[in-house]
Amino acid sequence: MTDKRARNEIIKENSHQLRGTLAEGLQDVVTGNIAEDDHQLIKFHGSYIQDDRDVRGERAKKKLEKAYSFMLRLRIPGGLTTPKQWLALDRIASEYANGTLRLTTRETFQYHGVIKSNLKRTMQAINGAALDTIAACGDVNRNVMTAANPYLSKAHKQAYDLGKAISEHLLPKTGAYHEIWLDGEKVEEKVRKAGKSEEPLYGTHYLPRKFKTVIAVPPDNDVDIFAHCLGFIAVLEKGEVVGWNVTVGGGMGMTHGDTNTFPRTAEFLGFCKPEQAIDVAEKVLLVQRDWGNRENRARARFKYTVEDRGIDNIRAEVEKRLGYKLGKPKPFKFEGTGDPLGWRQTLDAKKDEDKKWHLTLFVENGRIKDVPGRTMRSALREIAEAGYCDFVCTSNQNVILANVASKFTSKIEAILKAHGVSTEVSSGLRANSMACVSLPTCALGLAESERFLPELLTSLEDSLDKAGLRSDDIVVRMTGCPNGCARPYLAEIGFVGRNPGLYNLYLGAAFDGSRLSKLYAQDVGKERIIELLDPIFLKYAKERKSGEHFGDFVIRAGLVKATTAGNNFHDNIKLA
Ligand code: HEM
Ligand code: SF4
Repeated sequence: MTDKRARNEIIKENSHQLRGTLAEGLQDVVTGNIAEDDHQLIKFHGSYIQDDRDVRGERAKKKLEKAYSFMLRLRIPGGLTTPKQWLALDRIASEYANGTLRLTTRETFQYHGVIKSNLKRTMQAINGAALDTIAACGDVNRNVMTAANPYLSKAHKQAYDLGKAISEHLLPKTGAYHEIWLDGEKVEEKVRKAGKSEEPLYGTHYLPRKFKTVIAVPPDNDVDIFAHCLGFIAVLEKGEVVGWNVTVGGGMGMTHGDTNTFPRTAEFLGFCKPEQAIDVAEKVLLVQRDWGNRENRARARFKYTVEDRGIDNIRAEVEKRLGYKLGKPKPFKFEGTGDPLGWRQTLDAKKDEDKKWHLTLFVENGRIKDVPGRTMRSALREIAEAGYCDFVCTSNQNVILANVASKFTSKIEAILKAHGVSTEVSSGLRANSMACVSLPTCALGLAESERFLPELLTSLEDSLDKAGLRSDDIVVRMTGCPNGCARPYLAEIGFVGRNPGLYNLYLGAAFDGSRLSKLYAQDVGKERIIELLDPIFLKYAKERKSGEHFGDFVIRAGLVKATTAGNNFHDNIKLA
């Protein structure tokens, strides 16, 4: 019988619970690369091997191996770090990486440009800050995102606590990480002799693909709940969480030209009580472990399991494993997916002295760096050194300076000003923008993203001015390939790279993150993008109803048909 399983399944099976030959590969000083199979395994440890694509041609001509380096992604449930941790992370960026901190679209940091000889030291430095990179990538439950800022209200704290607990509960338990990176005790043999499994939840094959969990507190849908495999939406009574609406089966990635693959918005599984939530998370994950597709990785995400089996069958199986029924989802309302920028005060503090301040700072495409005249990285370092606040990475690639006492707000403002960091953003469009990394580090990028979106937005701001829309909130997102790391199919305006300089343009997603967009134009470059959007902005400004969002308007105006579920994302396309 031929083995139809995807290659990664065999790599996992033979890996000794994610060890592979990583430890040996790190010691080989002849190359900056690691063994082919280890490319897959190192993801589970929070890292991707990459190469600098800007210098590929030049190095090939000189017969040099590619300029290999590693991307390292941290696991930071809820995105919360202390000032001490922030300082450690900042130091690591200079000592071992390319001098920038990249806030991701999933509430964590990435480093780029860590070379092999520094990998272990970097991991140890991260560990020294009481953080880790376990399961930040790979076929496991990834970083758990929670509604931004645990200090904002009691409910936000409850969401954060649940996120942290789920992250711990669903963490791989293999000793591989500690052995390889932290010189921990070799436990494999011992566990085997004791007749136990190193991975009681994941087994030897882990999940068929990555698995992503998020927790939202209405009315904010900042975590983009419908884009994720598993979601918990807080149901509140008098500001307290009395339970969670559970969602399953969302996801973004697809393959250009393959209509069997599509982004999908999550559906409702039911309602659970606070004390049931971790158990629910575990059982949902186990259903995907056992039912997910292990032959075709392009169809292996949980969203396809939910699509193919149907939500009712998934619910029945989860309830069977739980041993009890879930309740019916309770009413709630989301208002938007963005981060309210600027200062906010704790929402539900009773006494004045408990009211703290929280500043959400816009970070363009999440890249925290110093450039002449605008030294954001140094400003944040200075704020951390003074210990004025904790830091929260948001799912919109921004940072919140959280839990600030009133007496420190002006001090923070003065530091930001001295470093040329404004709390103002040039337009509502930019304030609601995100771009994935893409070139030069991401091997999958077909077009520029992070390096191109800022200049495109500058041009589009001229169009907005003509229409008088500069301060309107419109969600725009760009990715360099259809994998969708910046969730472009849930943006009111989405750009997805096809070829160098060319993008597919998607319109019509809902501002609150509940509806996907639809393809509007194919293979468009900068000039054509402006030519297409210019008249639409004018029309929107003239004809919109009061309070109508851009994504809803383009549907009412007949520019695109509404996508009502992932399985009709590719239907009714009429290209401009
Ligand atoms: C098949 C699908 C996907 C693959 C193969 C993939 C692969 C990658 C790779 C290689 C990177 C590293 C880029 C770099 O830092 O240079 C990356 C970044 C990232 N991906 Fe994905 N990705 C996929 C889908 C997604 C989706 C659907 C999401 C979120 C909903 C996501 C979230 C992220 C995040 C947060 C980053 C960090 C950088 C950023 O914020 O742009 N990925 N991905
Ligand atoms: S969307 Fe594509 S190009 Fe962008 S970071 Fe993800 S995998 Fe890379």
